Amino acid sequence: MLSPLDLLTTWLAEEQSAGAPNAKPAVLSTCTKDNVPHARVVVIREINDKGLLFFTQRGNRKVRELLDNPQAVITYWFELLQRQVIIEGTVVPLSEAENEHYWKSYPRESQLRFTCYAPTSAQPITNKEVLENKMKQIEHEFKGQVIPLSPFYCGFRLRPERIMYYAIRTDALSDVFEYRQSDGVWTMQWLSP
Ligand SMILES: Cc1cc2nc3c(=O)[nH]c(=O)nc-3n(C[C@H](O)[C@H](O)[C@H](O)COP(=O)(O)O)c2cc1C
Repeated sequence: MLSPLDLLTTWLAEEQSAGAPNAKPAVLSTCTKDNVPHARVVVIREINDKGLLFFTQRGNRKVRELLDNPQAVITYWFELLQRQVIIEGTVVPLSEAENEHYWKSYPRESQLRFTCYAPTSAQPITNKEVLENKMKQIEHEFKGQVIPLSPFYCGFRLRPERIMYYAIRTDALSDVFEYRQSDGVWTMQWLSP
């Protein structure tokens, strides 16, 4: 049986086929316990029956907010095909074994860059040179060696509870429908655009 997330995978593929260079980034929205919202783009690395996976740096704002309040929303806007998908749900941190598994799937250059910037992610730096010098030092330090899993690397899985699909149409009324999950059972409902 098709899962409600299968259509997202299809829409991603169709957006790429329509010419989008990279349809993987999406907006991740979080909210503090004090009801302060924040949103930013992240790359959705994998979509499967269990949910959507994304990766980030331990200690940054989104991690603090997600650990404090695991309710989150991922929003895709597919510009070329004029489609939106909103996935609401709860996030859970990945296990260390899962982090290790995904870390190993990155090219060496990405692992080096992550090792360089992750400890200071989104914090003020005096200038870009500080990081460029650190990058040279890390390249030297790990020359000829496997880059170990950065202690700052961490992933989350968003487990969907509601998924809304919105396809804008100009020939007729737009197509809008949602899937809602309750006690493990999904139901589909058409919505007015
Ligand atoms: C195209 C694009 C992809 C990005 N992907 C990620 C990502 O996968 N993970 C991440 O932590 N930040 C990613 N960022 C940076 C975030 O948008 C954000 O600026 C940064 O993580 C700090 O967010 P925070 O302060 O809310 O934690 C990306 C930015 C862009 C423009």
